[in-house]
Amino acid sequence: MIHDPNDAGLPDEPTASDDTSAGASTSPVEGTSDDASEHVLYRRRIRSFVTRAGRVSTGQRRALDDLGPRFVLSYAGEPANWDAVFGRQAPRVLEIGFGMGATTAEIAAQRAGDDFIGVEVHEPGVGALLKLMDEQQLSNIRILQHDAVEVLEHMIEPGTLDGVHIFFPDPWHKARHHKRRLIQPPFVALLASRLKPGAYLHCATDWQNYAEQMLEVLSAEPTLENTADGYAPRPDYRPVTKFERRGLRLGHGVWDLVFKRRID
Ligand SMILES: C[S@@+](CC[C@H](N)C(=O)[O-])C[C@H]1O[C@@H](n2cnc3c(N)ncnc32)[C@H](O)[C@@H]1O
Repeated sequence: MIHDPNDAGLPDEPTASDDTSAGASTSPVEGTSDDASEHVLYRRRIRSFVTRAGRVSTGQRRALDDLGPRFVLSYAGEPANWDAVFGRQAPRVLEIGFGMGATTAEIAAQRAGDDFIGVEVHEPGVGALLKLMDEQQLSNIRILQHDAVEVLEHMIEPGTLDGVHIFFPDPWHKARHHKRRLIQPPFVALLASRLKPGAYLHCATDWQNYAEQMLEVLSAEPTLENTADGYAPRPDYRPVTKFERRGLRLGHGVWDLVFKRRID
């Protein structure tokens, strides 16, 4: 694997023994008629991450304290008024799992006319992105430190996003953990529902087996269409990370996938 989150200050890929580990959460669903007592049933949701304690550096802590109140939003189980949050009406892109935020900051600097909602569960990553925003005086990013699945379900209204970025999501190498991968049919259907017609979904991975899964799952989603014949050339706005450059030098691959929501 080329992408080494550890080098970026992220912990190793999370480990999990099975879907009853800390990576699963419960959410209520309606009771069924089979349930004589009509209790609310709890369905286990398998998460794409496990919560890990990470060391927050002094600089990250300062950024969290100083800039967090302005740029980090609290999770709310209801749609946000994003125009009010950003203080303007602009194309809006959601990024899931921004890690330490280097790519996010670079894209936001290049695309100053667009607004970016970055979602990441890892606190040092949130601090790192805030620090970059401060250094580069970026004001077109807002951050949520929360599970992106719940953010999409509850805080983003259908048909409102202009783009979604998912760069190098955790590959969950072991076959028995593949169920934790983000790119699965129900999640892709949810993602697609949040895009405006014609809006794009851009995924990238350096793990071939996951690239193949992405291509299969995205191609099977009826509301999406591929912009390329298979994998896409890397769009110019996505910078080549140092891990990627190192991997490419070693002859490893990186796969970009760019799909659009159909205009029916
Ligand atoms: C392998 S890292 C890649 C980080 C970054 N995109 C990059 O290219 O360096 C994947 C990141 O996704 C985050 N993540 C995984 N599942 C998530 C979820 N459901 N919601 C928010 N963040 C998530 C993890 O915490 C991790 O930082």
